[in-house]
Amino acid sequence: MEFPNQAIPTPCTAHNLFPDMEKMRKKGGKSNPVLFMLALSLLLPPFSLSQGDHELGLLLSFKSSVNDPLGFLSNWNSSVPFCMWQGITCNSFSHVKAIELAHKNITGTISSSIFHLPSIEIINLSINWLSGEIPNDMASSPSLRYLNLSNNNFIGPIPNCSVSLESLDLSNNMISGEISAEIGLCWSLKTLDLGGNYLVGKIPTSISNISSLQFLTLASNDLSGQIPSEIGRLKSLNWIYIGRNHFSGKIPEEIGNLVSLNHLDLAWNNLSGQIPSSLGNLSDLHYLYLWGNKLTGWLPTPLFRLKMLTELDLGGNHLSGEIPQLIIELQNLKLLQLMLNSFTDYLGTQSDLTILDLSMNNLSGKIPDELCHSGHLVILGLFSNSLQGQIPRSLNTCKSLEDIHLRQNRLGNDEGIVELDMFSNLPNLRFLDLSYNGVSVSSSINSSYTWPNLQYLSLASCSLKEFPRFLKGSKHLMSLDLSDNKIHGQIPKWMLNKGLDTLSYLNLSHNFLTHIERLPWENMKTLDLHSNFIQGALPVPPLTVSFFSISNNSLVGELSSLICNRTSLEILDLSYNNLNGTIPPCLGNFSKRLSVLDLRMNRFQGTIPDTFDKKCGLNNINFNGNELEGSIPPSLVHCRNMQVLDLGNNKIKDTFPRWLETLPEMQVLVLRSNKLHSFLPSPMVNHSFPELRILDLANNDLAGPLPKGYVENMKGMWNLDDQGTSSYMGTRNFSYHYSVSLTIKGFEIKLEKILTIFTSIDLSNNMFVGEISSFVGQHNSLRGLNLSHNSFSGQIPESIGNLTQLEWLDLSSNKLNGQIPHKLADLTFLAFLNLSDNRLTGPIPQGRQFNTFENASYHGNIGLCGFPLSRGCNADGGQAPPPSSIFKEAHDELQTVTSFVLKGALIGYGCGLPVGVVIGYVAVKTGRAKWLLKLAQGKCH
Ligand SMILES: *[C@@H]1O[C@H](CO)[C@@H](O)[C@H](O)[C@H]1NC(C)=O
Ligand SMILES: *[C@@H]1O[C@H](CO)[C@@H](O)[C@H](O)[C@H]1NC(C)=O
Ligand SMILES: *[C@@H]1O[C@H](CO)[C@@H](O)[C@H](O)[C@H]1NC(C)=O
Ligand SMILES: *[C@@H]1O[C@H](CO)[C@@H](O)[C@H](O)[C@H]1NC(C)=O
Ligand SMILES: *[C@@H]1O[C@H](CO)[C@@H](O)[C@H](O)[C@H]1NC(C)=O
Repeated sequence: MEFPNQAIPTPCTAHNLFPDMEKMRKKGGKSNPVLFMLALSLLLPPFSLSQGDHELGLLLSFKSSVNDPLGFLSNWNSSVPFCMWQGITCNSFSHVKAIELAHKNITGTISSSIFHLPSIEIINLSINWLSGEIPNDMASSPSLRYLNLSNNNFIGPIPNCSVSLESLDLSNNMISGEISAEIGLCWSLKTLDLGGNYLVGKIPTSISNISSLQFLTLASNDLSGQIPSEIGRLKSLNWIYIGRNHFSGKIPEEIGNLVSLNHLDLAWNNLSGQIPSSLGNLSDLHYLYLWGNKLTGWLPTPLFRLKMLTELDLGGNHLSGEIPQLIIELQNLKLLQLMLNSFTDYLGTQSDLTILDLSMNNLSGKIPDELCHSGHLVILGLFSNSLQGQIPRSLNTCKSLEDIHLRQNRLGNDEGIVELDMFSNLPNLRFLDLSYNGVSVSSSINSSYTWPNLQYLSLASCSLKEFPRFLKGSKHLMSLDLSDNKIHGQIPKWMLNKGLDTLSYLNLSHNFLTHIERLPWENMKTLDLHSNFIQGALPVPPLTVSFFSISNNSLVGELSSLICNRTSLEILDLSYNNLNGTIPPCLGNFSKRLSVLDLRMNRFQGTIPDTFDKKCGLNNINFNGNELEGSIPPSLVHCRNMQVLDLGNNKIKDTFPRWLETLPEMQVLVLRSNKLHSFLPSPMVNHSFPELRILDLANNDLAGPLPKGYVENMKGMWNLDDQGTSSYMGTRNFSYHYSVSLTIKGFEIKLEKILTIFTSIDLSNNMFVGEISSFVGQHNSLRGLNLSHNSFSGQIPESIGNLTQLEWLDLSSNKLNGQIPHKLADLTFLAFLNLSDNRLTGPIPQGRQFNTFENASYHGNIGLCGFPLSRGCNADGGQAPPPSSIFKEAHDELQTVTSFVLKGALIGYGCGLPVGVVIGYVAVKTGRAKWLLKLAQGKCH
């Protein structure tokens, strides 16, 4: 933004010398310019030498409060006339008119003295390291018209401004507090830039007093409330930039009065309601940005009158309806960004666009043919819609095209094929994504086109049988996703020479690769080879790699300690192979970046190295399903960020590692099927396992009563509400989800993803004794509780009836007595119940879920009676309910299964993953649930 370079001597500049008059003006008294002039000339004597000394003193006092490491102020001393100092400009009377010291690495604070320079007009100290508060004396300067303190570290409130001020730029500092109503006193302002600070509160309505305001920026603050409709009175406004705040409510209609507006940016707020039609009056509008609000409704027709509009960005809202034919009226439009809304049709084909992004809408039908007839289109974004049919051949004449995003549609010809040749004439192609269209992508063997500039190619799930040959001509390949295809054998030799120093993302997962000769890419960051049939020894990944997964293959042999040379690794997943030998000790401490170490389901032997050091950054350690012996290494306690520790299904012989309880982030602890023995100790700290949500200690030799402390402290299992916002555990930097295998309703199930609201406790098959603490009822978010095959005695605590999320409960094979609490009938999600082989007596609770459990849930309790047992109860016992209809059962089934399977399995287990998981799960219920299984599969395909 340039400062308008016009002279602006104004009679009012003297008003601060006359506080009384200023007061008078504030009270509404009319200021009289002539009176001001007169007063000024009477009061100020002709400029004299002593005034020069005065200015010298003021400047030196400014110098003394700053530091100037570049020596820019080195000639600021009394032996040089100050008009010749660097950064100083004087007027024809040798008085300081401007101080311009932008971008000079100056530190320190600013002395208020500069605001007392009698003729100062311009102060520019932008882009320095100045700090402290901005002195309020600015208000007393009679002549200052330009103040630029942007890009410093100033704190405190916005200072009061002088009435002469025309341009105030305080952007990108740390200024806080509210914008006070006194901003209305800055009535000469043409430019006001307060962006990038920590301002809060509302925009004061008094802003409408600044009638000459042309440029207003309040972006990137924490301002809130409604945008005041008074803003519509600022008829000179040319530029409004108030994005990235928390403004809510509607966009005021009155903005439509600002007929000079050129640039309107309200993006990244919480604005709701419809886009006001009045915006159609802004005949000079070039830029309209409303991205990232909550706007609803259709595109108002008057919007298409905005002939000057060059960029229209309404992405990330809830707009709906069609994008009408009228859009072609916007002859000057270069950018049309409507991504992430709910638009259904795109009828017009705007001719002169450079960027068209309609991704993530509900667009259906075909891609319009004339999308690019003027040939200026550079970026075409249509991914995640429901577009169908042929990709128009005409795109191939659109020489300007660089980026084509068509992933996740249903594009393809009648045979379900996309011929890549149709893009063969696009010399500038840089980005091409056709993944997940459910079609075959083919390129004919004898075609000879290449895309020399291609950097990103994504052809996941495109039924490819080999590496596309056109890649031979691409010299700058950076990202290649060929996952989920039918590529067999090896990576071809020519591919091993492609992108040697550029390729940084390569995803070949879910193919039929059998051999990896070498991985030569020197800039590789993400290398995903999981779910292939790769044999032989583990290929060592490139030095630079941070994500390396080769899980679900057929690797054999030992894990070489060479892997520890890859110090950039963050995720190392070698799970589900046949690797053996010992775990190299260096794995414990070779990288503080390593966050996931997954070696599960291999054949590793020996002990777990005790080399985890203070720098351990591991989040997730999974050694499940190996043949590891010895004890759990105490050095694991150094891994303070640990969220998942799964050492289940090994031969570990140890006592319960009580020191784990101090790990503040621990959420999933699986030690099942080892040889852990002796009593569970009492916790050492008050907040043991504060975040724990999944605890599996089943199949060990743990004995004694359950320590009260542990049961009571696990607050991670309390009050986890599914507000539809629950997410999965995983890493932030990569698309990688943590997974864990658990016994759910009697079946071992691999949770491919772990919902952050999923909780379960499995202590089955140990030697625990004593009563089940009624405190367990506090863990009201529990989905599953398995205490079976222990020696628990006493009654089933009534409080278990408070576990309203419970889906499975197994207390079988204990020594429990007394009655089954009737409250259990309140557990509407309970789908699996096993109370068999105890000493329970009395009537079985009736109704709701209890109508669906069968005999097996209760057998081996001689004293129980009532439905479903054939043994009836006596007079005061419960009665068998009437035979339930198939429909009712199916309904209950759906309820219980939807809660877990549909949410957990369909989404959680992930589509395209072994359906066996779902089958295994649903098979719990014989026959009846088959239609649910169909439903489940249907959702996936
Ligand atoms: C303030 O200075 C910065 C950096 O020197 C410049 O980019 C900006 O345009 C100036 N502000 C005004 C209003 O002139
Ligand atoms: C704004 O202007 C109105 C009238 O023009 C006046 O009454 C009011 O005091 C002014 N507000 C501020 C904060 O300057
Ligand atoms: C690789 O592709 C698969 C399947 O398309 C996907 O699930 C996975 O997240 C991708 N891997 C990475 C690291 O992006
Ligand atoms: C890793 O090993 C290679 C030789 O195998 C060596 O050249 C390189 O310097 C090592 N890098 C690190 C980080 O230790
Ligand atoms: C890892 O620990 C071992 C044994 O304590 C030590 O010899 C080695 O230097 C450590 N390595 C690193 C990278 O800190």
